[in-house]
Amino acid sequence: MAATLGLTAVLCASAVKLFHAVGQPHVLAAAQAFQEARLRPLLAAIGPLDSLTRETLELARLHDLHGKGPATIELVYADGEPAGLLLTARAEKGYAGPIRLLIGVRVDGTLSGIRVLEHSETPGLGDRIEPGKSDWLARFKGRSLADPDRAAWAIARDGGRFDQLTGASITSRAVVRALRDTLVYVDERLEALFAAATVDTDWSLNAITRMAATGRPTRGAHGPAGADTCPVRGEC
Ligand SMILES: Cc1cc2nc3c(=O)[nH]c(=O)nc-3n(C[C@H](O)[C@H](O)[C@H](O)COP(=O)(O)O)c2cc1C
Repeated sequence: MAATLGLTAVLCASAVKLFHAVGQPHVLAAAQAFQEARLRPLLAAIGPLDSLTRETLELARLHDLHGKGPATIELVYADGEPAGLLLTARAEKGYAGPIRLLIGVRVDGTLSGIRVLEHSETPGLGDRIEPGKSDWLARFKGRSLADPDRAAWAIARDGGRFDQLTGASITSRAVVRALRDTLVYVDERLEALFAAATVDTDWSLNAITRMAATGRPTRGAHGPAGADTCPVRGEC
């Protein structure tokens, strides 16, 4: 009896292992495809997709936009020239918690698009930031710190230019602030971010490690693509 139970347990464990081994690559591939599909509209608004290449920077120590953990920024090139960036931002003060956004910014400082990655806002109220539920978020596409002026980057309730979602000004305020802060961040660091992939410099964002290059040759002082390099003294 005990032997039968033991054998059953071993067989079950093997089946689970096999299931994981076979299933995992498919899950990863599906997750990657899903992520790529989400990026596509933001990228298409930066340039023709077949002209674009991307490079990923990992920021070891972060500014406020991303929260405390490491974050990545995708540098986007069109025909080899800097064309835009994809960043994730975390709006800490959503109604029900942080709201994570994926934000595309062109090198001219205009928003190429925004995706909501994660939120816990209330159905029917704050969840209307989701593109499928209202067009509120879409109206930010093409905006920049010059349109409207930086001081007007706030919801109408706070004297700004943007209407809040009815009954959800807390959510709206959090998102508008995150978009504004992201645009300010890019405005202040655009050149440094693109230079970071090539130049070994002691710049204010601290350690930058190039993680992977997609379709782009290795450049500058960072060694082969994917190599674990530390461009800033004492930061890695
Ligand atoms: C159950 C419940 C859920 C709410 N969910 C949200 C929400 O997701 N986002 C939000 O900004 N406000 C939410 N509110 C409303 C806020 O408490 C607040 O009244 C509102 O943000 C103020 O915006 P308003 O001045 O446009 O009404 C919720 C309120 C209640 C009672």
